[in-house]
Amino acid sequence: MKDFIDIADYSNEVIQSLVESAFNLKQTAHRGNELEGKSIGLIFEKPSLRTRVSFEMAIHHLKGHAITLQQDEIQLGKRESIEDVAQVLSRYVDMVMIRTFEHENIKRFAQSASIPIINGLTNTSHPCQALADALTIYEHFKRLEGIRVTYLGDDNNVSRSLAEICLATGMHCTISSPKKHNDDMMGVNYVLDPKQAIENADVIYTDTWISMGAKRNNTLLKELEPYQLNESLIKIAPETAIVLHCLPAHRGDEITDTILTGPQSKVFDQAENRYHAQKALLVYLSQLNSN
Ligand code: CP
Ligand code: NVA
Repeated sequence: MKDFIDIADYSNEVIQSLVESAFNLKQTAHRGNELEGKSIGLIFEKPSLRTRVSFEMAIHHLKGHAITLQQDEIQLGKRESIEDVAQVLSRYVDMVMIRTFEHENIKRFAQSASIPIINGLTNTSHPCQALADALTIYEHFKRLEGIRVTYLGDDNNVSRSLAEICLATGMHCTISSPKKHNDDMMGVNYVLDPKQAIENADVIYTDTWISMGAKRNNTLLKELEPYQLNESLIKIAPETAIVLHCLPAHRGDEITDTILTGPQSKVFDQAENRYHAQKALLVYLSQLNSN
């Protein structure tokens, strides 16, 4: 397994050890030389704050070199084919992270590349985010097994990877959404009523109602209104529940300002944890592929 494209591609043991490793790297404020002499390409076909900066800083702190490429520079699939770009970059750099639209594109890229390819978000999944989510939950509850996670709102790339990491780590996943564009996943509890979905939750998670590149759908937006994480909805959940959001947030849509910045919110720890989780992933992939 040279690539990191989906959580479900990996064994439960590897995913659990990545979360533990990220936790340990954070505890020790690890700086190392695991990427010394190595270059990592970061390709962005969509905007990013967290993914770009956390990857660049993690690479920097492991003594690697990051080369960030925006879509207008390489025009993946337009200026030249995905397969040609993958083969050329494999001759220059040691790993590539890609944020793109179609999931199929990253799979094609990985097939033509001889170096590890990391999924930095597609329309279908966001596995690096899921590692940071699990790390945030682990830090707070000191365990993952048995934790009840409820995702509210648009069933999307983030909820898919969240569900996959729940399944890999023994957390219970409930998805509460008016829409099911994801296929139903075995082991995930789908609950239409958001109140019922959060009444026993340890973790309440939400994300934007309109993902990058998605068309505005006014019917869906109307259906999503009861799923807004607000003061009246959160009262139904245990007071000990924590709130997560991968960010960027749209205050007043999927979440209110007071909940995002309130005492139950761990969203900025979660954003920080992108850096620690990706550091663990980079160390793992560089060691795996050097053997
Ligand atoms: N959560 C996340 O992936 O943020 P960015 O889109 O800013 O990278
Ligand atoms: N679902 C969101 C996540 C952003 C990090 C999107 O794809 O835009």
